[in-house]
Amino acid sequence: DPSDLLRAAMLQLSDSDLVRGMVVRAPMSRGVVARYVAGETVDEAVAVTAELRTTNRLATLDYLGEDTTDRARAEATRDTYVRLLDALAAADLAAYGAAEVSVKLSAIGQALPADGDAIALDSARAICEAAARAGTTVTLDMEDHTTTDRTLEALRALRVDFPWVGAVLQAYLHRTEADCRDLATAGSRVRLCKGAYKEPPSVAHQDGDDVDLSYVRCLKVLMAGDGYPMVASHDPRLLDIAQALAGHHGRSPDSYEFQMLLGIRMNEQKRIADRGHQMRVYVPFGEDWYGYLVRRMAERPANLQFFLRSLATN
Ligand code: FDA
Repeated sequence: DPSDLLRAAMLQLSDSDLVRGMVVRAPMSRGVVARYVAGETVDEAVAVTAELRTTNRLATLDYLGEDTTDRARAEATRDTYVRLLDALAAADLAAYGAAEVSVKLSAIGQALPADGDAIALDSARAICEAAARAGTTVTLDMEDHTTTDRTLEALRALRVDFPWVGAVLQAYLHRTEADCRDLATAGSRVRLCKGAYKEPPSVAHQDGDDVDLSYVRCLKVLMAGDGYPMVASHDPRLLDIAQALAGHHGRSPDSYEFQMLLGIRMNEQKRIADRGHQMRVYVPFGEDWYGYLVRRMAERPANLQFFLRSLATN
């Protein structure tokens, strides 16, 4: 499939420092960024969350940054999350989980050379304490496959004190159906997505159809189980299947939710919320938007136009 090739090429290209420098400085980039990213500051992210609220959309906020190898940076990210949760609570947006946060463990210390896992876990606990004060939840994002086991280990550790902590599972990984079975238990929040990283065939389906089939198998496990499935996709076929499975298992609309990314299918998000479903929007913000943006561009060949134009005008 040519679009799979294009996607792989873009993800590869994005690793180049030269390309990164060109994109970050390009004047076009700002416009592209604004579609997918809610600004650079906590205040801007809170404002976008409030705006989504006017159309009954819930939010999960992500302070952008990943693979931090600098301890001070990891701590600053942790502190920003705490500040964000306090601000959401002050704006009356967090109660009952209306706005929660999504956290990449590699942004809060997991990638540090020494004691990364322990540092990330400590920071995640601080974020969870702030979430508890705000009356909301935390979901751990899932990164490349080398971190899956460690992230699920952190999830288990956090859930001892904060049973409402959730995690993302990626349907493209061969292991994920089994992980869904492990996590389809009472009180367990699982966000199922297709997966966005460049992964080898040994661990992940390469073909889009195989990823979709795996997504459906995972959905079946989650919807049949006792947990709280979070259906994170823009794919209309998968959304229909999710809804049919929820109906089949007699789930009430408050026992699962749909989730999409800021800037993608925004009208469909509103329609889903209008029909009485829980619709949560993933709201990324912060200065470090490059890695996030490249993954979004790679998902859709049409977006490549924006990307190339931003290089050409540099
Ligand atoms: P797919 O990519 O097949 O898109 C289906 C349709 O949606 C397209 O045909 C198009 O109409 C529209 N669409 C999709 N992407 C678009 C774009 N960029 N621009 C415009 N239209 C677009 N991944 C990961 O590895 N770890 C994680 O922790 C998360 N977390 C996460 C949270 C949430 C709430 C969501 C929605 C997604 C993630 N992801 C993620 C990303 C996920 O793995 C995946 O890369 C994207 O959601 C795209 O996959 P879709 O399921 O939307 O299908």
